[in-house]
Amino acid sequence: MTYQFSFKDCLARAERITWRVEDLIGGDKRLDFSKPFMPENLARTHGLSFLDADEQTTLNQIRGHAYLAIFGVVEEFILPFVLEHARPLLTGDDYRSRAYLEFASEEAKHIQLFRTFREEFTKGFSTECQVIGPPEAISAHVLAQPPLAVALLTLQIEWMTQRHYQESIRDDNGLDPLFKDLLVHHWMEELQHAQLDANMVQAIAETMSKAEIEAGIDAYLALGGFFDEGLKQQTLFDFEALQRATGRTLTGEERAQFQSAQHQANRWTYLGSGMSHPLFLAALERLSPAKREMIEKLAPTFS
Ligand SMILES: [Fe+2]
Ligand SMILES: [Fe+2]
Repeated sequence: MTYQFSFKDCLARAERITWRVEDLIGGDKRLDFSKPFMPENLARTHGLSFLDADEQTTLNQIRGHAYLAIFGVVEEFILPFVLEHARPLLTGDDYRSRAYLEFASEEAKHIQLFRTFREEFTKGFSTECQVIGPPEAISAHVLAQPPLAVALLTLQIEWMTQRHYQESIRDDNGLDPLFKDLLVHHWMEELQHAQLDANMVQAIAETMSKAEIEAGIDAYLALGGFFDEGLKQQTLFDFEALQRATGRTLTGEERAQFQSAQHQANRWTYLGSGMSHPLFLAALERLSPAKREMIEKLAPTFS
């Protein structure tokens, strides 16, 4: 197998990043509800002209809350999946086993990070924001799919967090500083995860026939469809949360406009930005050039 990176370097980079959940949130570190939480090119609230500026900020914060919940959901299946993959690798290469264990430990920290931010959000936001779930049921559905499908979905999510930071978060100075800190610190650790995931995808595929690999990629696509349905439902929840928080009842036409624009914004945030990432496509290319081409053509539907 040819590795694209050294496990020793990957572990060394991970070990130099030493933030704790308590450094980012809790105590006197409180969210500032006068500011947006999500960058505009993920939230896409400014195009909803029937909302005034304050209502757009409220919707942006509702989307931020959903981001915390959705990452809580995905980390919930990534953690056991990585641990399972790491178990047979515990002997043979010390740096490799330590790199995967570090990866799992960081994901456990991220679960706690997103949960703690959600608790802070709930303390400061006036009304309830419903989210898709429960996480255990979503996780059970994902983990019942072929390992290659789960590894690809995870890889897509890892590259997605890199893109969110580089294209949307890094240069946005108007965000709530704590929420920006969350996104920045998550990004730092996800780069190592993306490299380890790419390796995991390759290792899993090496034991499979061409037909099995193609079936695994199809199962990854079906998982994309499963999450797209979830995002459609989340968009409905966000609409209801916005009406509750603002006390407004929007018209049927406004509702339809909201649903279409916000579902598409969610698709870009959680699916398209990862699916079309050049390094995700490169990983697919190594598995099946034909499937890579198909997915690349499909990606604009989620942009
Ligand atoms: Fe994470
Ligand atoms: Fe990760």
